Amino acid sequence: MPDLNDATRGRILYGGDYNPEQWPEETWQEDVRLMRQAGVTSVTVGVFSWARLEPAPGAYDFDWLDRLLDLLHAHGIGVVLATPTASPPPWLGHRHPETLPQAENGTTVWYGSRNQFCASSPEYRRRAAAITERLAARYGAHPALTMWHVNNEYGTHCWCDETAAHFRRWLQHRHGTLEELNSAWGTAFWSQHYAEWDEILPPRQAQYIRNPAQLLDFARFTSDALLECYTAEHAIVARHSPAIPVTTNHMPFWRGQDGWAWAKQQDAVALDIYPDPDHALGAQHGALVQDLARSMAGGPWMLMEQATGAVNWRPVNRPKPHGLTRLWSLQAVARGADAICFFQWRQSRQGAEKFHSAMLPHSGPGHRTFREVTALGADLDRLGPAVSGTPVAADTALLHDWDAWWASEQPGRPSELLDYQENVTAWHRALWEANHTTDLAHPAADLTPYRLVVIPSLYLLTDAALDNLAAYVRTGGTLVAGYFTGVADHQDRIRPGGVDARLREVLGLAAVHQWWPLNADETLHCTTADGDTFESTLWAEELETAGAETVARYRDGELAGHPAVTRHAHGEGTAWYLSTRPAPDALRALLTRAAREAGLRPAAEHLPAGVEAVRRGGLLFLLNHGPQQVSCDLPGHWEDLLTGKPGTGTVTLERHGAAVLRPADLRPADLHPTAMYPAEQ
Ligand code: GAL
Ligand code: ZN
Repeated sequence: MPDLNDATRGRILYGGDYNPEQWPEETWQEDVRLMRQAGVTSVTVGVFSWARLEPAPGAYDFDWLDRLLDLLHAHGIGVVLATPTASPPPWLGHRHPETLPQAENGTTVWYGSRNQFCASSPEYRRRAAAITERLAARYGAHPALTMWHVNNEYGTHCWCDETAAHFRRWLQHRHGTLEELNSAWGTAFWSQHYAEWDEILPPRQAQYIRNPAQLLDFARFTSDALLECYTAEHAIVARHSPAIPVTTNHMPFWRGQDGWAWAKQQDAVALDIYPDPDHALGAQHGALVQDLARSMAGGPWMLMEQATGAVNWRPVNRPKPHGLTRLWSLQAVARGADAICFFQWRQSRQGAEKFHSAMLPHSGPGHRTFREVTALGADLDRLGPAVSGTPVAADTALLHDWDAWWASEQPGRPSELLDYQENVTAWHRALWEANHTTDLAHPAADLTPYRLVVIPSLYLLTDAALDNLAAYVRTGGTLVAGYFTGVADHQDRIRPGGVDARLREVLGLAAVHQWWPLNADETLHCTTADGDTFESTLWAEELETAGAETVARYRDGELAGHPAVTRHAHGEGTAWYLSTRPAPDALRALLTRAAREAGLRPAAEHLPAGVEAVRRGGLLFLLNHGPQQVSCDLPGHWEDLLTGKPGTGTVTLERHGAAVLRPADLRPADLHPTAMYPAEQ
């Protein structure tokens, strides 16, 4: 199977979405000239071109795309060719309203925007396959083609009758018999027992809380239904061009798709990342989703879309200050990206995204943005040979699972304030601030490459995952598990004893007597065995230990005197449990202590606050997210690949500045003994 390396070929791809159908053809000449000037090597074409390519059912117009691909090829610009199936033309919805999605309350989601398709609609699938087949047959051997991009940000949900029929088939496959389904969904509750398959519906709008197991299966089903659409198109394009990698772009940390399952079906993983430039932790959001992309890919990944400045979909859309686009692009490279692309090349004059920034803004190539884009192209060109294809050094894993996410956010739970994504973000932040580079991993994945494994909270854990965790600790791993973990089985049944017995044994806990969620404005105080105090929020639990040492106790409230944080030697390893969420500094201190005890060191030490350090391919990336210039003390001699200049002792980073250091006289291992490096180092 081809992979991203077949498209990058030792470079970092640079470019963006290119929508030339929005412009007269004269503009294309200027586009390719300016693309060359900016160092663009790759453009994604055709994402929303269905109505242009097939203006009426079965009537195709490819001439313009022929000319475009030839033009790009003549200028040495590679093409990531998209199947246009994310935005069907009005004629499809007009003639076949059954291809349009229906909301939970049965209302139709009309055309006039985009993404108005039902993943279960046979007519939509037929039409999508037909246009994909034409496109692949025509361009599968075009010399400009470097990658296929199927659809765009799959995410549409539907509750229509075709979906209902499809959902039933999926359920038959998953559960076998109706009896099994009734058991899995616990339909003895509230008289929900199903006597015939035809009675079963997607979880539509209802009078009161809907069946949580049904909601969970529907989330799984929807991810699978969309994935079927993806794999159908993937198979078509791959048949015409077996050596060309195929991808689709995911929204970052998106609830609607099981990223682990999807990544297995893709040749390359691509993500769209839009951190809020106005948010103090925008850079951490970037780091988190970049870590996820790398982990899904199992190696280098593609940043398919980011913004050069403002987006158009926040209540207030702030631009990026000078330097931030470069800094966040280099952050993505540090964390494994081998392609840095934007939405979009030329800013639209019409339509919903006319205020969305672009590489070439309304004000043209004299604009500050275009200068920055051009400078970034040169940076990436310089870094490519040293970086492309190399692994990122990460020895910590944060466990994440869509099943647990879906199950944990059903209604009728102890606290709506325990928001899955927010919670993962808080834990990841602690590791990010300490410069412990972290992969994300599925709880049943092979954890042996990691010295430290953290679980921010995984309400649902399968038997396989629990056995995996137990074996990991028994054989010497360090596990830090958070509140409300190991509670439900794969079908959202509460485990006997409230928390799985295997997990309690690993953690050295006899019981969790109560979940004690905290109110939004509530803070508890905890005291450690050394007499330090920290604040905690969000959640608390009434624990009873059985062998675990108490690292910190609750000091106030109903739980005063009870254990808050525990630590347990189990087999050859160690398992920590946090029954509450320590304030950010305290969480960072706890996780760094666990990391240190596990023999880990951060990617670089003693850096000023706000400086991110990541090691990739024997290089040390330093990224200054802080508000001003800083100096970093570093041992040894190095060359900064961004400037080509040698240095020693101190690295100065401007505001939004970055350095990519190649050690000259030190083996990289001297800087970071526990990191992994490619063989030639
Ligand atoms: C993405 C999408 C692009 C564009 C962009 C704007 O979600 O794939 O087509 O709409 O957002 O930020
Ligand atoms: Zn539908």
